[in-house]
Amino acid sequence: MKKILLTGGNGFFCTRFTKKYQNDYEILSTDVPELDITDEKKVMETFKAFNPDYVIHAAAIASTDFCNNNPEIAHKVNVTGALNVAKACKEVNAKMVFISTEQVFNDNIESGPYTEDMIPTPKTMYGRNKLKAEKLLRETLDELWILRFTWLFGLPERNCGINPNILWNTLLIALEGKKTKVTCNEYRGLTYVHELIDQFTKIFAIPYGTYHTGSHNPLSRYEITCFILKKLGIEERIDALIEKDTEKYKEHPRDVRLCTDQLRKYGIVFSDTKDAIKKCIEEFKFKL
Ligand SMILES: NC(=O)c1ccc[n+]([C@@H]2O[C@H](COP(=O)([O-])OP(=O)(O)OC[C@H]3O[C@@H](n4cnc5c(N)ncnc54)[C@H](OP(=O)(O)O)[C@@H]3O)[C@@H](O)[C@H]2O)c1
Repeated sequence: MKKILLTGGNGFFCTRFTKKYQNDYEILSTDVPELDITDEKKVMETFKAFNPDYVIHAAAIASTDFCNNNPEIAHKVNVTGALNVAKACKEVNAKMVFISTEQVFNDNIESGPYTEDMIPTPKTMYGRNKLKAEKLLRETLDELWILRFTWLFGLPERNCGINPNILWNTLLIALEGKKTKVTCNEYRGLTYVHELIDQFTKIFAIPYGTYHTGSHNPLSRYEITCFILKKLGIEERIDALIEKDTEKYKEHPRDVRLCTDQLRKYGIVFSDTKDAIKKCIEEFKFKL
C-alpha cells in the first residue's frame, strides 16, 4: 500500500480526504499537535520515520485578516513551513502536492478566469505567502504538483473540520434569519470539496507542474447566494434574507476565478458551479 503523509490533517480538506482514502492508502495525518511544520528538525524526523510516497501539504494559516495583521507568523507557517516540508520530501524522495490558492491573483487588474501561465499579483499577505512558497518549492523540488484551489464548499460532517464557505455561510444566514448584505461585484471560483477529493489521486498520475482546480463560475456572489437559497427550497425568503450590495468592490469588481482547462486535459473535470451546489445539497439530502 502506498503511503501518504498529510500536513494540516485536522483541517476542512484533509479530514474529508482521510475519510475517503483511509482504506486505499496508509495515511499519516498530522497537524499542529503531532507535527508543527515550523519545526524543521521534527519535520525531517517524522518524514524519515514514515517514509511517505506522497505528501499533501495542506497546513497553512489561511485567514486573510490574521495573515495581514501577523505577517511574521504567517510567513513562518505559510512560507518557511512549506519549505521545511519540501526539503524533507526531497530527503526521503517523496512526491509533494502543495496546496496553493486563487488568492495569488487577488490584485491582478485584468479579469479572470486566470490560466496557469498568467502572472499572479497578490495583494494580501496570505496570497503573497502562497506565491512565495510556490517559487521556493519549485526551486527545491522537481517532483512537485502545485494545485491552486478555489473557495471550497461543503457541509458539516462528523469529526471533520468546517470552515466558512459559500454554502454553509448561506445556510447560517437562513438559520439566523438576519438580513445580510451580499456583494454582486465579486466573482470567485468555487469547488465542492468532495468533487475535488474524489478525483484527487488522479493528480498522482499527471505531469509535475502547476494546475488550477475547481468549478467554472460565471455568477456573482449575490447570484450564487440566491441560487443556494432557491435550491434549499426557500426561494420565497430571499428578499427577507439577502440585500444586494452594489457598493462593495464597485470601482473594481473582485474577480479571482481560475481557468481549469489544463486539468481537464488529464480527465480531471469539475461540474459547473450550479451543478456542484445541487450535487452537494442532494448528497446531504438537505432541504429546509
Ligand atoms: N478552504 C478553502 O476554500 C481553500 C481555498 C484555497 C486554498 N486553500 C488551501 O488549502 C489548504 C487546506 O485548506 P483547509 O480549508 O483544509 O484549511 P484549514 O481547515 O484551515 O486547515 C489547515 C490546517 O493547518 C493547520 N496548521 C496551521 N498551522 C500549522 C502548523 N504550524 N503546523 C501544522 N499544521 C498547521 C491548522 O491548524 P489550526 O486550525 O490549529 O491553525 C489547520 O488544521 C490550505 O493550505 C489552504 O491555504 C483552501
